[in-house]
Parts: sequence; structure tokens; C-alpha cells
Amino acid sequence: MTFNIAVVGATGAVGQEMLRMLEVRNFPVKKIYPFASSRSKGKKILFKNQEYEVIELTKENVKKYSKDIQLALFSAGASVSKEYAPIFAEDGIFVVDNSSAWRMEPEIPLVVPEVNPHTLAKDKKIIANPNCSTIQMVVVLAPIHKVAKIKRIIVSTYQSTSGAGGKAMLELYEESKAVLSKLSEESLISKDNSNFLVEKKQPSVFPVQIGFNLIPQIDIFLQNLYTKEEMKMVNETKKILEDESIKISAQCVRVPVFRAHSESVWIETEKKVSVQQAKEILASAKGVKVLDDPFNQDASLRYPTPIEATSKQITYVGRIREDLSCENGLVMWIVSDNLLKGAALNAVEILEELLYRKII
Ligand SMILES: NC(=O)c1ccc[n+]([C@@H]2O[C@H](COP(=O)([O-])OP(=O)(O)OC[C@H]3O[C@@H](n4cnc5c(N)ncnc54)[C@H](OP(=O)(O)O)[C@@H]3O)[C@@H](O)[C@H]2O)c1
Repeated sequence: MTFNIAVVGATGAVGQEMLRMLEVRNFPVKKIYPFASSRSKGKKILFKNQEYEVIELTKENVKKYSKDIQLALFSAGASVSKEYAPIFAEDGIFVVDNSSAWRMEPEIPLVVPEVNPHTLAKDKKIIANPNCSTIQMVVVLAPIHKVAKIKRIIVSTYQSTSGAGGKAMLELYEESKAVLSKLSEESLISKDNSNFLVEKKQPSVFPVQIGFNLIPQIDIFLQNLYTKEEMKMVNETKKILEDESIKISAQCVRVPVFRAHSESVWIETEKKVSVQQAKEILASAKGVKVLDDPFNQDASLRYPTPIEATSKQITYVGRIREDLSCENGLVMWIVSDNLLKGAALNAVEILEELLYRKII
């Protein structure tokens, strides 16, 4: 059995990785239908050595091709998903949507295949892919939750620029280049910040300079003074773990890294879990690799880093230790490629799960 698959947002950072994941994981694809905006109409996309022309996403074009399509992967933003996912679904197409448009709708499954694949069903045509920072956290925490019930989570994220799309990566590149071109060894220490500051080009993705800086804001601020990204981590984690009682608080920070998000996570559990037990639980957890050997001579084996995690189809966890501030607490460091497990890989794994469960 092979499938015709629409990739909506095929020219974007996530869309490109979706195509690569379909290819490297050998998903049974017969033909792809790459959709994007009018800006990309007619551009050429290569998939399995075959050239495809980008189709402009319009209602007419969807209707024209939908009879021939069985599956769709969406990564073109929430407003596009809100408008177009139901049009695909009405024609019987399973849609895996990467945006935030449908995630918190009660009847829409929000799926991480290692955690809650049982929520997939034949009549649930729209399936939401969780937020990137949520996916990598729950893939590690779910097996611990199962054994010891997590009562509380505190998380600080260190999120890469690719999480905000291709243009955001370019902004980091250009600003870093501009800073480096005006710096010299002698000017590293100066009386003010002028040597590190560059003029912000407009329009820009980030509100302030990202090159050699940190931004404690991802997405917009809400009335409760948290950002939308922080509240996504809170609400989506409860929905995926099917436990509204977990107390969660998040602080999300954009860092000058191109790919892979990192997270410092503190958890408090009902039952005591020792460091050794946590390592054993995680060593056998699907999709997770424990990289935790602090005294290793080789620093690359001591803990995971974003560069190490880039392009890897796995979520790394390290720095596992007891929380000194509470009785049943653990601290850990979780790193994963946001474009892969945080987006494209998770989406393709959902398709694989649909196939495995004979839903398609
Ligand atoms: N980056 C991540 O780590 C990540 C993780 C999880 C989820 N997501 C979500 O995935 C989506 C895409 O993210 P990205 O990082 O790939 O962004 P991106 O690099 O900016 O790409 C956006 C894609 O959407 C297309 N698009 C934009 N407006 C469109 C429209 N009106 N009609 C049709 N296509 C349109 C673009 O086409 P053109 O090339 O024609 O403009 C492009 O293919 C967002 O919803 C984002 O929240 C991203």
C-alpha cells in the first residue's frame, strides 16, 4: 500500500524536514503534493530524486487534487490550518497539523506516538502535533509519570531560532556576522554595550537582537504575564499526559542557537524515584537516549548539547540528579532537534502509527 501525501508549507523549515523524514524513514509514499503560498508557486521541490512543482494553496487547487490525496502534513501556520485542515478532512484526508490551531480542541487528538497513540482513531481526521518544546519534555517525563506520578513540573527552555522558522535562522546568522565584523580582540571589553549591538533590520522576526543575546519571550504575552509558548507547555503537557492535576510552570527563552531546543526540568513525584531508577526507566524509554556521564574524560559523553542533537531522530536526557530543594524531586537536562522530534519526525511517526494501528 502506498499513499499520496500533501505537504502544506513544503518550502518552510519544518516542511523541508517533513519531506526528508518521509524519505529517510521510507514511509510508503506514491506521490507528494507540495503546497505553499503564492510566493513559491511553481518552485521546484526534490523528493526521492523526483522533481515536483509547488502548488499554490487555494480552495480551488485543494478541491482539484483532494480526490487523489489520502494524507496531509500541515506546517504553514495556525491561520492556514484553521482554514484549510477542515477542507482536507471533509474529503476524508487524515491531516497531521503542526500549528497551534487545533491542539487544545477537546475532540482533536494531540499526539506524541511514544506517549498517547491510543487517542488516534478512524473518525478523527485532524490530528494535532504538539508544540516542539512540549514534545521533547513529555517523551522523557511520560515513562517517569507512569511509574511514580509526577505532581509538579518546573521548566526553563533554551529554544533555538529555527523554532521560529527559516527567516529567524537567517536573522541570527546576519546579526552574528554583523557583530563579529565590528569586534576585535581588543574591543571585547569596553565601557558600554555598543560593540555587541547591531542595528535591528525591519521587518524582523525577533523583538530584540538575537545575535549574542537571550530573549525571555517566545510568542505573545498573555494577561497572566506568561507567554503563549509557556502556556502551551502547561496546557499541552496536561492534555498529552491525560492528567489535569499536574502543576506546571514554564519560562521559555530564545537563545542564539540555530537548531535543537534544550530544557532544564525539575519534577516532583508522588513516589520517590532515585537517580539510578530514573536512568533505568529512561534507558528503556522509546525515542529517548540517556547521555549522562559527568566524570567522563570525553566531554561529548558527559551530557547532550544542541549541536550534538542537531539532525538526530532522538531526544537526549542528561544531568539527572536529585533536587536538593525537595523530598521526591529530580532535575534533568533534555535536548532534541525541534525541527525533527519537535515537528517533522513526530508528524511522520504519527502517520506510521496510523498505519501500524490499521487506521489507514
Ligand atoms: N520550527 C519549529 O521548530 C516548529 C515546531 C513545531 C511546529 N512548528 C509550526 O510549523 C509551522 C511552520 O513553521 P516553519 O518553522 O516551517 O515556518 P517557515 O520556515 O516560516 O515556513 C512557513 C511555510 O508556510 C508556508 N505558508 C505561509 N503562509 C502561507 C499561506 N498563506 N498559504 C500557504 N502556505 C503558506 C510558507 O510558504 P512560502 O515559502 O510560499 O512563504 C512556508 O512553506 C508553524 O505553524 C509553526 O508554529 C514549527
